[in-house]
Amino acid sequence: MYEGLDLERVPRHVAIIMDGNGRWANARGMHRTQGHAAGEPALFDVIDGALEIGVKWLTAYTFSTENWSRDPEEVEFLMHFNVDLLQRRRDELHSKGIRIHFIGERDDPRVPQDLRDRINDAESLTRNNQGMHMVFAFNYGGRTEIAQAVRAIAEEASAGRLDPASVTAQSIAARLYLPEMPDPDLVIRTSGELRISNYLLWESAYSEYVFTPVLWPDFDRHTLVDCIIEYQQRDRRFGGAEDRSGPGPAST
Ligand code: IPE
Ligand code: IPE
Ligand code: MG
Repeated sequence: MYEGLDLERVPRHVAIIMDGNGRWANARGMHRTQGHAAGEPALFDVIDGALEIGVKWLTAYTFSTENWSRDPEEVEFLMHFNVDLLQRRRDELHSKGIRIHFIGERDDPRVPQDLRDRINDAESLTRNNQGMHMVFAFNYGGRTEIAQAVRAIAEEASAGRLDPASVTAQSIAARLYLPEMPDPDLVIRTSGELRISNYLLWESAYSEYVFTPVLWPDFDRHTLVDCIIEYQQRDRRFGGAEDRSGPGPAST
């Protein structure tokens, strides 16, 4: 199907930082918002490609908790664009058997009510779907996600329902936005920026990162596959020792 891709070792969860929309638009003398609009077909081609090769979980960063600091006009555009996109694309995703999830602060009063309603509707509509999980990280920040998990633990402890001495990493993992989401195997960032920008901080502890200079609107299923091929060349060790298949050290 795709030369060089090992279909037996496709990552279960691919998480993407879709970056570079503004630069893509600037390079064409367009407004930044036109860059965001041009990012939509890229995302939907990637969704189809992910379905085609058998990715089980796909997460896309659509709005960070830091993106509120942008020009109000751009923030307003992004909010409406997200409502509009869900309206137009929800049934299409549903018909492909995709289960839609949102992670992030959806109840933030700055998020328009109609967008919150659409988010809840999309999740309920697709609740029983058995195909790929599509996660939108919207008004998402990794530090906020961890903080709200810690707050939940503190509340349970102060109500006497949890012994503070029993708190482990697993206690935090169980209180993240979507506890059933497996950790990402691969995190991809487009546009050449080499940073994490508050994305999936807890979940990506052992993820492989692939950075590509391609600007998001130019990304598609083929660039996705190129990133996955790069991932397949990595040796994931999770803190263990290198896996040497040759003979072990000579015994004395
Ligand atoms: C990513 O593209 C989309 C969002 C953050 C919503 P940018 O808007 O960050 O594009 P650049 O990085 O300015 O080119
Ligand atoms: C990260 O991109 C957020 C999204 C892609 C939604 P940014 O463009 O906001 O990140 P920085 O500001 O370059 O770190
Ligand atoms: Mg950016």
